[in-house]
Amino acid sequence: NPMMWSHKATARNVARLREDGIGFIGPNAGEMAEKGEPGTGRMAEPAEILDAVVARLDDRATGLEGLLAGRRVVVTSGPTHEPIDPVRYLANRSSGRQGHAIAGAAARAGAEVTLVSGPVTIPDPAGVRTIHVETARQMLDALQGALPADIAVCAAAVADWRPANEGGQKIKKRQGEAPPPLGLVENPDLLATLSRLAKHRPTLVVGFAAETERLIEHARAKLERKGCDMIVANDVSPGSGVMGGDRNTVHIVTAENVVSWEEASKDEVARRLVAHVAGILKAREP
Ligand code: CTP
Repeated sequence: NPMMWSHKATARNVARLREDGIGFIGPNAGEMAEKGEPGTGRMAEPAEILDAVVARLDDRATGLEGLLAGRRVVVTSGPTHEPIDPVRYLANRSSGRQGHAIAGAAARAGAEVTLVSGPVTIPDPAGVRTIHVETARQMLDALQGALPADIAVCAAAVADWRPANEGGQKIKKRQGEAPPPLGLVENPDLLATLSRLAKHRPTLVVGFAAETERLIEHARAKLERKGCDMIVANDVSPGSGVMGGDRNTVHIVTAENVVSWEEASKDEVARRLVAHVAGILKAREP
């Protein structure tokens, strides 16, 4: 219940437990058993508790715990929606699963994580500050607002273009008239913007490359063009099942080399990626 949860004695005890390294699953926000008292205080859903426990045990097995203690991480995830008029938008098939899994894994590794999420149907990851946005421009604003950070992971499938004129009114269909032209303008590139910041550039900027052909070649070109430190390349051609699915096969592309990881769940890819970037960050320190 929100009253109990926000009570200062509870806050004191929770802080103490957190200091002792105890993890929390929930409480979640929403309606309470008591009518008219919505807020933060709901028990996490049993499935969510199970997932969190399994993830915690896997983290322990892979040595994720504490790897990013004291670090700040920002992650973008999901698609963006670009309005055509007040009721229609342009979008893509991204589910946000991989980006959300990375944010969750970074939090479990001890980082202070901000996730900037486009419209998705999956829950916010536990222990992460999640900012919900719709458009690429809103995503960029939220991302810049979350800096400084040690690591940035741009996993969102940001729409490359948006309709040039977002009409204030719903576009009407008129009998016998041609369909309205859909003029597009380019959206800002968040990954490239972040990689080229003069002030507050994260130490490690990681991008994704979702490709349907010539994966490595395109990923290498993206690494160069966008100025980031690493590209996580994955094949999203229709047969791959990556878009919206639970599994992923990725290739880690840097200026030095390409390392291919075997197929794994998106949670496992997230865990490996977090451990990998934590290692790179550590190696770069004096
Ligand atoms: N990205 C971004 N902002 C954009 C477009 C892409 O931050 N406006 C980021 C994505 O989050 C991803 C990387 O850039 O980390 C590559 O995205 P992708 O869509 O594969 O690249 P594009 O530049 O859009 O290239 P193309 O569509 O030609 O493959």
